[in-house]
Amino acid sequence: MAGDGKVVDLAEVPAEVRERHSVLAQEIEDHRFRYYVKDAPVVSDAEFDALMRELEGLEEQYTVLRTPDSPTQKVGGTYSNEFAEVAHLERMLSLDNAFTGEELDAWGERVARELGSQEYHFLCELKVDGTAINLVYENGRLVRAATRGDGRTGEDVTANVRTIAEIPGQLRSDGGHAVPELVEIRGEIYFPTEEFEQLNIARVAAGEDPYANPRNSASGSLRQKDPRVTATRPLHMVVHGIGARRGFDIDCQSHAYELLRAWGLPTARHNKVVRTLDEVKEFIAHFGEHRHSVEHEIDGVVVKVDEIPLQGRLGATSRAPRWAIAWKYPPEEVNTKLLDVRVNVGRTGRCTPYAVMEPVRVAGSVVEYATLHNQEVVKAKGVLIGDTVVLRKAGDVIPEILGPVVDLRDGTEREFVMPAVCPECGTGLRPMSEGDIDLRCPNARSCPAQLRERIFYLAGRRCLDIEALGYVAATALTQPLEPAQPPLTDEGDLFDLTIEQLLPIKVVVRDADTGLPKRDEKTGEEKVVAFFANLKGEPKKTATALLENLQAVKERPLARIIAGLSIRHVGPVAAQALAREFRDLDRIAAASEEELAATEGVGPTIAASITQWFAEDWHREIIEKWRRAGVRFTEEETAGGSDLLAGLTVVVTGTLTSHTRDGAKEALVSRGAKVTGSVSKKTDFVVVGENPGSKHDKAVQLGLPVLDDEGFAVLLEQGPDAARAHLGLPSAAADGDSTEES
Ligand code: IVH
Repeated sequence: MAGDGKVVDLAEVPAEVRERHSVLAQEIEDHRFRYYVKDAPVVSDAEFDALMRELEGLEEQYTVLRTPDSPTQKVGGTYSNEFAEVAHLERMLSLDNAFTGEELDAWGERVARELGSQEYHFLCELKVDGTAINLVYENGRLVRAATRGDGRTGEDVTANVRTIAEIPGQLRSDGGHAVPELVEIRGEIYFPTEEFEQLNIARVAAGEDPYANPRNSASGSLRQKDPRVTATRPLHMVVHGIGARRGFDIDCQSHAYELLRAWGLPTARHNKVVRTLDEVKEFIAHFGEHRHSVEHEIDGVVVKVDEIPLQGRLGATSRAPRWAIAWKYPPEEVNTKLLDVRVNVGRTGRCTPYAVMEPVRVAGSVVEYATLHNQEVVKAKGVLIGDTVVLRKAGDVIPEILGPVVDLRDGTEREFVMPAVCPECGTGLRPMSEGDIDLRCPNARSCPAQLRERIFYLAGRRCLDIEALGYVAATALTQPLEPAQPPLTDEGDLFDLTIEQLLPIKVVVRDADTGLPKRDEKTGEEKVVAFFANLKGEPKKTATALLENLQAVKERPLARIIAGLSIRHVGPVAAQALAREFRDLDRIAAASEEELAATEGVGPTIAASITQWFAEDWHREIIEKWRRAGVRFTEEETAGGSDLLAGLTVVVTGTLTSHTRDGAKEALVSRGAKVTGSVSKKTDFVVVGENPGSKHDKAVQLGLPVLDDEGFAVLLEQGPDAARAHLGLPSAAADGDSTEES
């Protein structure tokens, strides 16, 4: 009778299922020990959840395996003997998880069934990614703080908890809410993500193992032997429940939180009481999108039946209440293997180490590379080549290695050593200026890597927008294979390229996934093909299109040409400002540093960098060669620019349908607006596209005018008053004057 969930005799369970069950159970217990006691898990949450689900699946099929000591029946966790044991007055339970809409519906249906005609509400809360704590207050005084442990017994961390500023040692009784005789407060202690990196830097510097992620550092910080160490850690708390209580009554969990807040406890800001499961799903969807505008990490949403008497009626299993469920978002942290650390040479010669990892799917995409910024960061993170590492990709954010899983090391790992010479041209690396952490290749003119990156950038959409000049073409023009010399040894000859120069150029064929050269199966030699010519030696479309494009772009607006020169610190926005002010490249070259610095949107750093750039002979030669080739370096007074938006400060966030991010900035700057990256009270307009994130939230908080694509078009075409009118607001002069005076 296998497989129908009714197997009661262990002898009927196939041997391989029994064995798998026992292996899984042991593995899960091991992981729990590492997670809860050692603060050093070796698998990601997602991997752990998958093991649990497999175990649950087996027990679903063969109920006889569901014994009281199975991990599915116990609250995850245990306690170490480094701290005194404390018995909780009331048990601390865990939560069942829902990963799909169906699982959530099934929970909702069960609640509805059990509660029949009773009216009830759902309380939606964020699932704080931290470590659970139980605080006991007697007559308002904090007498004990303990970790969850196995749910019945935890570790006494009272002395450490007393160092957390947010946790009151004494409850307040003002406002008419007398403090109770006894209350157990349950909540989550968390460690802010932004401060995590600093902690690991300090730990590695002190010769300690780095923490793999912020949650482990919360738990590790809370469980320090010396409370003075805990006191140095930026720990915070959010309250999410009540255990034992005496001397007060509560009807709903949401009302209980109001009381706890009045007593001075840190309650959550984002909770919401709703009536239907559809509204619960809206809450889940909202925070799925705004996961990162919350002050702490969240890994899901906890849905609770709000009415306390109904919670009692629904009851609990041995490990979790039936009146609550945890919706889990897809993981943003995964474990993967660090295969290598390589060094990339950028457009300005900066050498950046980057991680090459076993490809993993995280937060919606497959990740294989992550920048490590510089050699100090590699050291500070404490990662070794060969380590299993925790990789985090938060939504659209750039993937980042958080730290190594130290316990999985087998001794074969090795340290990354920053090369002393440029990996592409062999020139000795050095910092650009004293105290600079970044190492650079000083061979700016002809280091093939720097030249390739500069040409690629110059041809990019932010600059000359040369369609036929992509990355492979840029490589082909700067690094053709021996014995031929590359046609470009700097960017000076770009506009003089001829078809005769292009036809012989060959490139190595690379694997699209790995970037490694492909090899001939027989000879083992690298595969090489002509890039601009076909098999008959005739020009391919890539060649004719490139030459045509190069003719066409000679009349591009001055700002795009300036941006394309790869002058340090001069991006498209500064280039716009310079073009608008000087209208002629020769006038920029002739301007003093002071004159440049006085330009709105330029400033002393950029000015110094421009002066330095023009002081190099080979840079001025590039300009002369381009001039001889017919590139235009001047711009008429009215060309595209105007002062329609002069004096306005605008922030652009999210993806617009009408413009690229840079295109939008360019359109604003050419009309005299200042474009900044952060929203403040001084911002006049916030232009918001798809998936805008926290800047939009901040704009709403500050009550700033928010424009969508349509409003943005009005701003660009008709100016600020029309854009405000489009939003139904009075003109800025009207309210601007009054605020200015007050
Ligand atoms: S309620 C009996 N609410 O998640 C109800 N727990 O995976 C138990 N957690 O052990 C907890 N945020 O440590 C609840 N808003 C929240 C929570 C939350 C995080 C933790 C808690 C719990 C674990 C279960």
